Amino acid sequence: MEKLVVKGPTPLKGEVTISGAKNAAVAILPATLLIDGVCTIENLPNISDIKISCTILEKLGAKITWNSPHSITIDTSHITTTKAPLDLTSKFRASYYLIGAMLSRKGEIEVGMPGGCKLGARPIDQHIKGFELLGANVTVEKGRIYAKAKKLKGCPIYMDIVSVGATINVMLSAVLAEGTTIIDNAAKEPHIVDVANFLNTMGADIRGAGTDVIKINGVKKLEGNATYSVVPDQIEAGTFMLAAVATRGDLLIKNCITKHLESVTAKIIEIGGNVEDNGDSIRVWCNKRPNRATIKTLPYPGFPTDLQPQMGVVLSLANGTSTINESIWDSRFQYTEELNKMGAKITAHGKTAFFEGVKKLTGAPVYSSDLRAGAALVIAGTAAEGETEIYNLEHIDRGYENIEEKFRKIGAKIERVTE
Ligand code: EPU
Repeated sequence: MEKLVVKGPTPLKGEVTISGAKNAAVAILPATLLIDGVCTIENLPNISDIKISCTILEKLGAKITWNSPHSITIDTSHITTTKAPLDLTSKFRASYYLIGAMLSRKGEIEVGMPGGCKLGARPIDQHIKGFELLGANVTVEKGRIYAKAKKLKGCPIYMDIVSVGATINVMLSAVLAEGTTIIDNAAKEPHIVDVANFLNTMGADIRGAGTDVIKINGVKKLEGNATYSVVPDQIEAGTFMLAAVATRGDLLIKNCITKHLESVTAKIIEIGGNVEDNGDSIRVWCNKRPNRATIKTLPYPGFPTDLQPQMGVVLSLANGTSTINESIWDSRFQYTEELNKMGAKITAHGKTAFFEGVKKLTGAPVYSSDLRAGAALVIAGTAAEGETEIYNLEHIDRGYENIEEKFRKIGAKIERVTE
């Protein structure tokens, strides 16, 4: 078993470079199934979710050449099966994108029920509603999803809930459909724009991505023969911004799009941190105890749920009592029990948690319950006095490229140890 051992407290200082966005990349990879040919994808994050995605695509018949740890050339000319490996698809969330992509490409797909972080109920009813409106037949049985369509036909689709996954999935299934699809009440996250940009680069006709109405004019074919670079990961960038505040450090975060980070920037300034926005890099520093705050997570451009645990570490050390209301996921406060083991004073009731700020955290053995909880514990361990051992690293490795190396370069005393 592996664990991270962190010795603190250390104010994080220096420069860190952000990788490609996980949640864009895990959608762009299945989107290559829409291309009857070859394309190159660059700036892929080197994380386990990407490796699993590539293995699944290979099992479907795609040929992948690794140009570097961050770039692949993928040939999807010969897709040989419509049965995706159940064990692999059930391992992570984004396997649901295979449904939209394969319905477009082959008119049929069988996948395992998507897995991923345990954040409470994660229904996919809005995805299924979209596929059915486009003309597919979808059944869920024995832990599998079967989807089949003789022909997909564009139509208006109103999303009952703002969903990142359903917006992207419907986009994937509508690109090659006959006629026009209009997604209303669409999610607006930067990764939605990135997937649309990728598909448009390959020949799709998608307009309005990044607003709540996306119009997709169906095209006959995507040609490929192009190179696309994945957008920088705004959640990784936000993680380091909050790490700078929690540890009272000073970080220059490079290769990010600061426009994607406005809600985080505003909160950091509100609690007394400093931010210098350079457009494609951002400097964050803090030399005093942060002030209390009230946070509510919301779909983009609101404060992201995927930065809620990292902000929780900051607020557990703030002056006064803070409140976080988690409006996206039912169970995203599991990390608060771990922070309490380190001396935090957090009370979580359902989707609200109260953080009575303490002056310091102290090291303890802690367990990461999901990806962002894991990142929060790395920040907490760096800010805490003494030694913190962090377990369940498989969650962190799913979404953060070489986390200990990046933290070490900015001063953290962190080691990965095999027990
Ligand atoms: N929802 C439904 N029905 C659906 C789809 C969603 O009720 O058909 C609900 C969910 O239960 C949730 C809300 O709508 O309450 C939003 O869910 P969404 O579909 O937007 O989430 P997702 O696509 O499953 C993606 C990210 C998550 C991130 C959320 C919200 C990927 C692979 N995952 O999940 O990322 O938290 O959007 O921004 O893109 C992470 O990276 O740590 C992570 C969990």
